[in-house]
Amino acid sequence: MSRANKEARILSYLRSNLSPRRLLHSLHTAELCGNLANRFGLDPRKGYWIGLLHDAARELPPEELLQRTLSLGIQPDPLEQQNPVLLHGLVSAEIARSRFGIEESELLEAIRHHTLGKPKLHPYGKVLYVADSIEPSRTFVDEKFRSKILSLPLDEMLLEILEEEKKYRKNLAPITREMYDELRGGILERA
Ligand SMILES: [Fe+2]
Ligand SMILES: [Fe+2]
Repeated sequence: MSRANKEARILSYLRSNLSPRRLLHSLHTAELCGNLANRFGLDPRKGYWIGLLHDAARELPPEELLQRTLSLGIQPDPLEQQNPVLLHGLVSAEIARSRFGIEESELLEAIRHHTLGKPKLHPYGKVLYVADSIEPSRTFVDEKFRSKILSLPLDEMLLEILEEEKKYRKNLAPITREMYDELRGGILERA
């Protein structure tokens, strides 16, 4: 499949499955994720694809997210059972694989874990997490904060975003907390 062809197929899928607002968010995430991938020595095209596809399943009804997860032989954990929307990363990764031929495990992992992150996240997962959080249509992100983040090395970027999330949420999810602790530990060690 040529690049233009693949992009046209993905866009047409997203247009039929996402609201205009979320489509715009996906396009902005793709653009920023591609740029960050390039900056951090990853393949910018792959960064672009994961940005474009990360929310492909975001507007599926909760029952369908649960049912699609079960049909992959995966048992949702209690947090996911209570909030099936958390499964949209996993289901989006499956759409990326089965419909659009994305096969590399680090790309599927990035899409799967873009909502809560995880420890030992591959750099593709990190650039996607950052791009998803601060792309330009995220209007709640302050311009100063965005440019500060964008001037940092990758792990520091992610850590700053998590620090900010910690201020606004009572608790980070356990898996996000593990990623936070790991990043902090790594950065302190290098300091
Ligand atoms: Fe998402
Ligand atoms: Fe998103």
